[in-house]
Amino acid sequence: MRSLALLTIVSLLSVGALAQTPAANSTPPGNAETGKKLFVQYGCYQCHGYAAHGGAGPRLAPRPLTFAALSQYIRQPKGEMPPYTTKVLSEQQLADVYAFLRSVPEPPSVDSIPLLKSN
Ligand code: HEC
Repeated sequence: MRSLALLTIVSLLSVGALAQTPAANSTPPGNAETGKKLFVQYGCYQCHGYAAHGGAGPRLAPRPLTFAALSQYIRQPKGEMPPYTTKVLSEQQLADVYAFLRSVPEPPSVDSIPLLKSN
């Protein structure tokens, strides 16, 4: 009985620790619907695809990089991607884009597509 109580406390503590990771704290709230429109309006889709699954540019979703990394990259890209300064795309708009990226569902597993089943 005592070990069960201890287990409960330990799991509550770890949930608390997860909720306080820096990434979770530094992610500003955004609107995924608006972000989806911005993703098209600002041409991200031309290189990254409508569902951000990648094209000429890499796959961005699902499981996007952290907001901080996204923001840093967008403002000062290192490769062929054009930069998007805060004058072009505000922090709030970027937060909306990020909310959209986070809303993109996982693609179906290969096994759930009958045509692609190996046997
Ligand atoms: C002209 C094509 C193009 C457009 C438009 C474009 N990207 Fe990119 N993006 C790229 C390419 C190519 C890369 C790969 C690295 C490089 O060459 O800069 C990249 C890399 C990235 C990365 C880094 C990915 C990683 O895993 O490191 C992010 C994030 C990103 N793009 C987001 C965006 C967003 C958001 C927009 C719209 C605001 C956008 N991109 C518009 C071509 C584009």
